[in-house]
Amino acid sequence: MKRIGLYIHIPFCLQKCAYCDFYSIPGRDEALQKRYINALTLHMKTLSATMGDRVFDTVYIGGGTPGLLSVEMLTTLMNGIKDNFKLTEDAEITLETNPAVADEAKFRVMRGLGINRLSMGMQSSEQAVLKTLGRLHTFHQFAETFGEARRAGFDNLSADVMYALPRQTLKGLLETLRLLIALSPEHISMYGLKVEENTPFGRMGERLTLPDEDTQCEMYERAYELLEESGYHRYEISNFARSGYESRHNLRYWRREEYLGLGPASHSFVDGVRYSYPRSIEDYITALEQGRLPEVDSHVTLTPAEAKDEEIMLGLRLSDGIVINDDLIEKCKNYLRYGFMERKGNRIAFTTKGFLVSNTILADLLE
Ligand SMILES: C[S@@+](CC[C@H](N)C(=O)[O-])C[C@H]1O[C@@H](n2cnc3c(N)ncnc32)[C@H](O)[C@@H]1O
Ligand code: SF4
Repeated sequence: MKRIGLYIHIPFCLQKCAYCDFYSIPGRDEALQKRYINALTLHMKTLSATMGDRVFDTVYIGGGTPGLLSVEMLTTLMNGIKDNFKLTEDAEITLETNPAVADEAKFRVMRGLGINRLSMGMQSSEQAVLKTLGRLHTFHQFAETFGEARRAGFDNLSADVMYALPRQTLKGLLETLRLLIALSPEHISMYGLKVEENTPFGRMGERLTLPDEDTQCEMYERAYELLEESGYHRYEISNFARSGYESRHNLRYWRREEYLGLGPASHSFVDGVRYSYPRSIEDYITALEQGRLPEVDSHVTLTPAEAKDEEIMLGLRLSDGIVINDDLIEKCKNYLRYGFMERKGNRIAFTTKGFLVSNTILADLLE
């Protein structure tokens, strides 16, 4: 019996944020949403027979903003998952949402459907920053929504925070984290802003003013210290959790375990093959409505050398790092000597200083 994770992409948001390049369609087109959920159900039916004796121990409904789906659509989706795939008793079932789209009543329905983990976008507590990002909620609304999720019975809550943002200061970031920690989430993701070409931020070019590089590094280091002090241990470069609340689904990606992705822009890794679906909801729905499988836009079987490189690239994102061998120890000796990496038994991992320049070090190691 093989274990696998399921990722379902829900490509809808009320409004696009100025920094975000995740594939999603803004607005409230309920007819399109309904067609999409039906298409997903058709896809699950077709794939269920190909999964052999695999059991799913993690499910991640991500986006976009899956929390904006109606109660009826969420019910159809969850029934589709349970009818077509074998889930383990203790499967971790996560749904991504944000404060602008869900309330206590909807959270209760989600909980009843078996969803047992929520990941909520907070980004910042500062109103000026939230406004620049194009977010549709205040910090106050985030805190209210968070409380509603708790009252609805969620005992595994995660929040996303961003740093290196326009108009953000070190003081502002630490205040954001303090306010979040006071709400006592089990898990916190903290992402450095990546300026994506195809977004309003990307199109601003030089006009986008960001904290300088030294400040960005200081932000990461100080945030890391505050989170560790507060009981959130870093288990991946951007992810912090109370013990036992690490995201089991996301760990799959970094450990190179199997996952099946459904929906446009989703990625899969099954039987050693990586493939993804193109960023087009229309093509995806039309194919399934016409009784065809959606076309994939890339389909790669990795060579053993590529798989090794991937192991290094993904594994070194984890605080536990990767198992060391003679070749690697030789390549890493200067990074170890100068404190960018450390030995942990038979493993090697980045230190905080190493995480700050991990892209440069990885480029060197994978040359
Ligand atoms: C796919 S989004 C889903 C969350 C939900 N839709 C929301 O916005 O609240 C997951 C997270 O990715 C992060 N993110 C998106 N674009 C980013 C970027 N360009 N740079 C850094 N983090 C980004 C944000 O923190 C966001 O909450
Ligand atoms: S950050 Fe979330 S709400 Fe904003 S555009 Fe991206 S997926 Fe949508």
